[in-house]
Amino acid sequence: SAAEKGGYDYFMLKEIAEQPKAVADTLLGRIDAAGSLCLDELRISAAELREVDKVVIVACGTAFHAGLIAKYAIEHWTRIPCEVELASEFRYRDPILDSRSLVVAISQSGETMDTLMALRHAREQGSRVLAICNTNGSTIPRESDAVLYTHAGPEVAVASTKAFLTQLVACYLVALYLGQVRGTKWGDEIGAVIRDLSKISHEVERVLETMEPVRELARSLAGKNTVLFLGRHVGYPVALEGALKLKELAYMHAEGFAAGELKHGPIALIEEDLPVVVVVPSPRGRSVLHDKIVSNIQEIRARGARTIVIAEEGDETVVPYADHLIRIPATPTLLQPLVATVPLQVFACELATARGNEVDQPRNLAKSVTVE
Ligand code: AGP
Repeated sequence: SAAEKGGYDYFMLKEIAEQPKAVADTLLGRIDAAGSLCLDELRISAAELREVDKVVIVACGTAFHAGLIAKYAIEHWTRIPCEVELASEFRYRDPILDSRSLVVAISQSGETMDTLMALRHAREQGSRVLAICNTNGSTIPRESDAVLYTHAGPEVAVASTKAFLTQLVACYLVALYLGQVRGTKWGDEIGAVIRDLSKISHEVERVLETMEPVRELARSLAGKNTVLFLGRHVGYPVALEGALKLKELAYMHAEGFAAGELKHGPIALIEEDLPVVVVVPSPRGRSVLHDKIVSNIQEIRARGARTIVIAEEGDETVVPYADHLIRIPATPTLLQPLVATVPLQVFACELATARGNEVDQPRNLAKSVTVE
């Protein structure tokens, strides 16, 4: 009913709008007054976490994209090797696991069969399993050794939005917490990131306030068949997520690529007026990556692509090469997906509407996939 949708036309729009609160709620009570993380709820002792020599993340779809982003954070802040695998592939390749492997299963519903089978396999190998889940008491957390709940609230639309952002927050918390209990050379950085994280819901709010041009752009592309998405570093999984949203909702051919791979094949796809969304890393910090992506934008534009550039406020270098420029607030590099994903959700939702598709219930899809 309209009341359930809180005045929005679709649950998806309501859930997109709820993201600042979902992000804040997922942080609530997990940072103490001194700015340290307190995750006693994990029920895995600090001593056990210090023994971990490998993190393995398993998930499907959008949750898998959260896992891909988590890998950057975990490896950077903890120096523990981290693998990310599609849950549906995991147990069929005889993965190397033992009691020192920490397996993280990410799932909004907690009922995804592929993810459940992956975690069962991990437990049989003697690994400890931590669930990151949005649904209290669902099967995946019940069968895991520990759980960190995301507090997105119920997500009704088939296309995941607020659950994704809170999965990212939970992954950052796990990464930072591992760093905190193990003590890494990034001690100072960890404190600073926790402070940035506690301000991030405000930044998500700011992104939502500037989405009208994105909706307009989406409507203008309703007649297109293909949209490509490019990113590097954590922007690469963001590109994959933008493409998945567009497939699910707009039924368009959409693909995400690592921008560095362009010249290894995908650049052959570029033709006159092809829309290409590019997620640009912050020019601060890892500026090498930033400069490389700016040359990628120049390359594809020279071949006729219509460039849709998502770049940090104040980044002027991209201006000459952007046919459409979407601004996002400056954040630390690893946190950028929390703001960069939002315009892509809005974009896909509006394109779906413009194409006359059912936003909350896309064809052929179910909210949770409880069969293998
Ligand atoms: C996301 O928009 C999708 N509907 C889908 O990829 C989903 O993320 C995937 O099926 C995993 O679901 P889960 O998080 O409930 O395990």
